Amino acid sequence: MKITIEPLAAEQIKAAPREFSFGKTFSNRMFSQRYTPALGWHDAVIGPYRPFSMDPAAAVLHYAQEIFEGLKAYRRPDGHINLFRAWDNALRFNRSAERMAMAQVDPEDHFEAIAELVRLEHEWVPAEDGASLYIRPTLIAADVGLGVHASHDYIHYIITGPVGPYFATGFNPVAVYVSREHVRAVRGGTGAVKTGGNYAASLYVAERVAAQGYQQVLWLDAIEHRYVEEVGAMNIAFVYEGSHISTPALSGSILAGITRDSVIRMAPDLGYTISEDRIDIGQAWDDIRAGRITEMFGMGTAAVIAPVNRLGDGRDTIAIGSGEAGPVARRLYQTLTDIQYGRAADPYGWTHTIKVPKA
Ligand SMILES: Cc1ncc(COP(=O)(O)O)c(C=O)c1O
Repeated sequence: MKITIEPLAAEQIKAAPREFSFGKTFSNRMFSQRYTPALGWHDAVIGPYRPFSMDPAAAVLHYAQEIFEGLKAYRRPDGHINLFRAWDNALRFNRSAERMAMAQVDPEDHFEAIAELVRLEHEWVPAEDGASLYIRPTLIAADVGLGVHASHDYIHYIITGPVGPYFATGFNPVAVYVSREHVRAVRGGTGAVKTGGNYAASLYVAERVAAQGYQQVLWLDAIEHRYVEEVGAMNIAFVYEGSHISTPALSGSILAGITRDSVIRMAPDLGYTISEDRIDIGQAWDDIRAGRITEMFGMGTAAVIAPVNRLGDGRDTIAIGSGEAGPVARRLYQTLTDIQYGRAADPYGWTHTIKVPKA
């Protein structure tokens, strides 16, 4: 792929800020390319971060034919930059595109676009503890017209921005609301891919329970409202007796998280057993009450590992563990972030290092 690098005008160059919260600040440049059936992917460009001009009848605005991804670049102790599992992420991007009947990207081009954008924006990769550069690849339907059909034309773009911890509370436990009535995704639907509609469908419950102090919603299966699926932007795991990790098996309506997969692969090397199970919320509740479940945590790119210390469902509420982040969550967080930031060797081959000039 030939990427045109557009120069930035002086007024388009801003210095990376030192303080940022999640997803509010974006770097100076973005990548974009367009797809038409006649030309395939074309006009690949890295240029200034700027708004699109959209026709009000553009397909994405009406029928939500849209997918996105989230991955991070981390500042290494030697000043260079690590991308974490960017290849796996590119493959998931295409799985989402396929499910949403969209044009797929060439995963090598997608990877190259990310690496080139991060290399150009390397000054935006923060060095602060726990901070990173979040990368948001996106694909949207660009046909103009109101008939419901798979678009012919698409826009693929990638934006980035520095982020601190996903939760304002940092690596501190969050409270999770168990949604007994509303569901997020149904088997055979689109829950297993990363399309905006899944998130839109989750907002109603999330907004209603935020006022009660819940930071995330735990979704149950859509048929029996009984089996644990995942939380809003994370997969979920329970720790039994401090040594066994149990996470819901991929059911067809759960996103196959890259952090989840990393935990599954790392856990045995850290001396934990791990299984992918059908987890009955009633049983899990009993196991928490009986002290058999000693920890619960979410897994996702944004928060990495997010300990959970309280579950509630509007009728009942239950505390998990001591209220503090538990030892298994801490160890997984430490081990995984050490690999991501290049503080420790990467025995799994998950990181791709981008060499950048010394600051
Ligand atoms: C619905 C959902 N589940 C799980 C995850 C975790 O996936 P990953 O670890 O690849 O970020 C995410 C975030 O991407 C998500 O949006």
